Amino acid sequence: MAGGRIITTAHHKTMIKENFSLKKYNTFGIDCTAQYFAEFNSVEKLREQLEYAQLSTVIYQLKTFILGGGSNILLTGDVEGLVLKNDIKGIEKVADDANSVFIKAGAGVQWHKLVLYCIQNNFAGMENLSLIPGNVGASPMQNIGAYGVELKDVFYELEAFHLQEKKLVTFSLNDCHFGYRESVFKRQLKNQFVITSVTYRLNKVPHFNTSYGAIEQELQAMGVRELSIQAISQAVINIRSSKLPDPSVIGNAGSFFKNPEIDQQQFEHIKEIYANVVGYALDNGNVKLAAGWLIEQCGWKGYRKGDAGCHVKQALVLVNYGNASGQEIFDLSSEIIASVQRKFEVMLEREVNII
Ligand code: FAD
Ligand code: EPU
Repeated sequence: MAGGRIITTAHHKTMIKENFSLKKYNTFGIDCTAQYFAEFNSVEKLREQLEYAQLSTVIYQLKTFILGGGSNILLTGDVEGLVLKNDIKGIEKVADDANSVFIKAGAGVQWHKLVLYCIQNNFAGMENLSLIPGNVGASPMQNIGAYGVELKDVFYELEAFHLQEKKLVTFSLNDCHFGYRESVFKRQLKNQFVITSVTYRLNKVPHFNTSYGAIEQELQAMGVRELSIQAISQAVINIRSSKLPDPSVIGNAGSFFKNPEIDQQQFEHIKEIYANVVGYALDNGNVKLAAGWLIEQCGWKGYRKGDAGCHVKQALVLVNYGNASGQEIFDLSSEIIASVQRKFEVMLEREVNII
């Protein structure tokens, strides 16, 4: 553990560390520090940390940044202000009815642990979301999604602590304004709330979703005869492990960009020139392009400059081979955006949160 002076309150209940290294707290493995750093494992503790921080003349009025598992951030420099790491644990069944089970989890619970808990108990709905890194508290932030399912499909409600008003507020599905990698917490309410728990609605009887091409293929390869949530979870785990880099081996934050949405006319235009362009029709008539394909066509796949690179197996994932700085990775992402814009006239948007 790196870090300088440790500040404690008179009661030794609150511990705020100064100049704390975040290298192990972000999956890109970027070596930056937090000016101040503290962890909380309950709402009471969070309240205490904030009250203490506001009493201190040094920390008073500094920015607050909420950290989960650090798997969707790129640190481009040292973080000024107070980094608060959410470590609220606990998974409990809070209710059930004829069709559903309601599971409430603390924001600091590892996402995949929650998925495994549901699968072991035959609560269906999260199996396609297996092996996504990060914690429960961040799952609504960008409405995590994979293999044909999004968080909104299993979401019931969440509790969040308002940083200014210091009170808990409950958000329903409608309040969250979920979209593709979007929520109200990334937009209108950015930096205002700390999500402390999320309640999910799971199904007692599974509705299997194997529509995402590669799942059917993988189930066949696994020799699965009877579909189950366990088998789907394992298929998703196998597919993910075969192409996505493991952050404990190579630093990364998953897809660096969103898959862009364009209109049908532009899609046809691109298709005239590049017959094998990869796109999926959306309900609104637009087309979602595979950003990985666009980036690969521009020649970036497997590219490496210093320790910053574009992954060999998945061009949508930028990687840190060891000692890249966040700025170097950011600069690489800017070059990629510019070249995709030049070649296809399509603007890529970063999916990872730039800090
Ligand atoms: P962090 O990176 O710690 O935080 C992300 C953002 O949320 C930050 O802005 C932070 O301030 C905010 N935040 C975190 N916790 C809270 C809280 N409790 N309250 C308020 N704000 C908070 N994502 C997908 O959607 N689908 C995928 O398939 C997928 N695959 C991935 C594969 C790999 C190998 C990796 C490394 C990442 C992948 N991701 C994927 C991205 C990432 O796993 C998710 O975005 C995840 O939800 C981030 O969780 P976290 O706890 O690490 O969040
Ligand atoms: N492709 C290429 N070259 C590449 C990568 C992809 O041509 O280097 C093409 C292939 O044709 C492939 C298609 O793109 O069939 C789609 O690729 P993949 O199935 O790997 O999915 P993706 O669109 O690249 C999205 C999500 C992932 C999620 C997967 C599975 C985004 C931004 N990314 O990736 O989420 O796991 O689908 O559902 O929507 C994340 O958000 O961090 C993430 C990993």
